[in-house]
Amino acid sequence: MTQANIGVVGLAVMGSNLARNLASREGNTVAIYNRSVERTNLLMSEHPEAGFIASETIDEFVASLAKPRTAIIMVQAGKGTDAVISQLAERFEPGDIIVDGGNALFTDTIRREKDVSAKGINFVGAGISGGEEGALKGPSIMPGGSAEAYKTLGPILASIAAIAEGEPCVTHIGTDGAGHFIKMIHNGIEYADMQLIAEAYDILRQAGGYSPAEVAAIFEEWNKGDLESFLIEITAEVLKQVDAKTGKPLVDVILDQAGSKGTGVWTVQTALNLGTPVSGIAEAVFARSLSSQASQRAAVDGLPADATTWNITDRAAFVEDVRRALYASKLVAYSQGFDAIRAGAKEYNWQIDLGAVSKIWRGGCIIRAQFLNRIADAYKTNANLESLIFDPYFKQAVANSVASWRTVVANASLSGVPVPAFASSLSYYDGLRSPRLPAALVQGQRDFFGAHTYKRIDLEGTFHTLWSGDRTEVEQAPSTH
Ligand code: 6PG
Repeated sequence: MTQANIGVVGLAVMGSNLARNLASREGNTVAIYNRSVERTNLLMSEHPEAGFIASETIDEFVASLAKPRTAIIMVQAGKGTDAVISQLAERFEPGDIIVDGGNALFTDTIRREKDVSAKGINFVGAGISGGEEGALKGPSIMPGGSAEAYKTLGPILASIAAIAEGEPCVTHIGTDGAGHFIKMIHNGIEYADMQLIAEAYDILRQAGGYSPAEVAAIFEEWNKGDLESFLIEITAEVLKQVDAKTGKPLVDVILDQAGSKGTGVWTVQTALNLGTPVSGIAEAVFARSLSSQASQRAAVDGLPADATTWNITDRAAFVEDVRRALYASKLVAYSQGFDAIRAGAKEYNWQIDLGAVSKIWRGGCIIRAQFLNRIADAYKTNANLESLIFDPYFKQAVANSVASWRTVVANASLSGVPVPAFASSLSYYDGLRSPRLPAALVQGQRDFFGAHTYKRIDLEGTFHTLWSGDRTEVEQAPSTH
């Protein structure tokens, strides 16, 4: 009996498309299994060319796999994933490989890897980005797990990944949950990028008076330069769409409450735990939350705006200012995302090659962009770059943009256009470049009410001031309050 070198469990759209992608590549024979057999039958009847080996039971599925057995789970993240993992783990043997291709929380992946690998079975949490089309034609893939598992799995994943600059968009990210961690950060950056583009649109529309179709044309122009990216490209498409029912721009009839499935929230929660500012991503998450506060927004009645009109004398300069502000804010979002990766790698003991991460994001994934080539170059020049903003190319890019950035944020505020991600990115930049921060005052406040102590710029040691007494400084051990 012919056996499959790879299997897919879970045949919703992402799973089906990934299975078809695998089957379309030379050398792969793909086994498929879904809890309800109807989906399996549908896929078999719609795609006979794929030559799938279909199974109705998990036992048949496991028997249809050649050793080392390799199965990719494509079910919705959560309890379903645990159930399928334990079904496979009960039947697999040491050396076999279970891959979770869903959007799992990386700490779940760490836990699952520990459990499964105790049986000698490899467990690989792999982030897969690119949506339905990417799964079918070539996603960006971020696998974690052991180096041993990657030896078998790597070539299979490379066969289905997107190709960017001649290289497949897949690399072994690191052990256990590293792959899902990187996918989480990818999604966080995705949130920030989308929010920043939305803010640029809002400024062009509200302050500039451009119609959705006109903004689409502006974005199409931008897509020919530094900002070239999948997200800019699809945004222009969305803005061009006309609603068949009303004849209005579709964007004007879509309810303005943004949904989310949680990966952006995870990124922010994780970054908070790591003590790494990802303010651009956080503002993007909060902007979605604010938009979805339906009852609160409906109850707003005449809150004063006291806004002034943005006096736009040169329309081309105005559009260029917005473009530059978007570019600089986007750099902050990516820079913060990469900082979170460095912090995560340190915390979880992963050896993550930031240059390799930027390379596999150049194709297939939602944040794919020209920009990623620049980031890859930056890490090639200096793998230990403290911040992407310090790379000479980006430093110059920000220098070229900072006046526009300030003009846009200031005028948007004066004219009452909400720009949380633009504004917080600029503030982050100003915070980063400030030689002296008011954090000194915060330390003073902490010491005043809680004797939390502080350090001095001119002396070694830890200090506490007797604030209400004779105000002399006393050196002492850090407070436990
Ligand atoms: C991808 C996407 C994908 C999904 C997001 C959407 O990389 O292919 O990130 O994973 O579209 O998770 O997330 P929200 O529903 O939270 O916007």
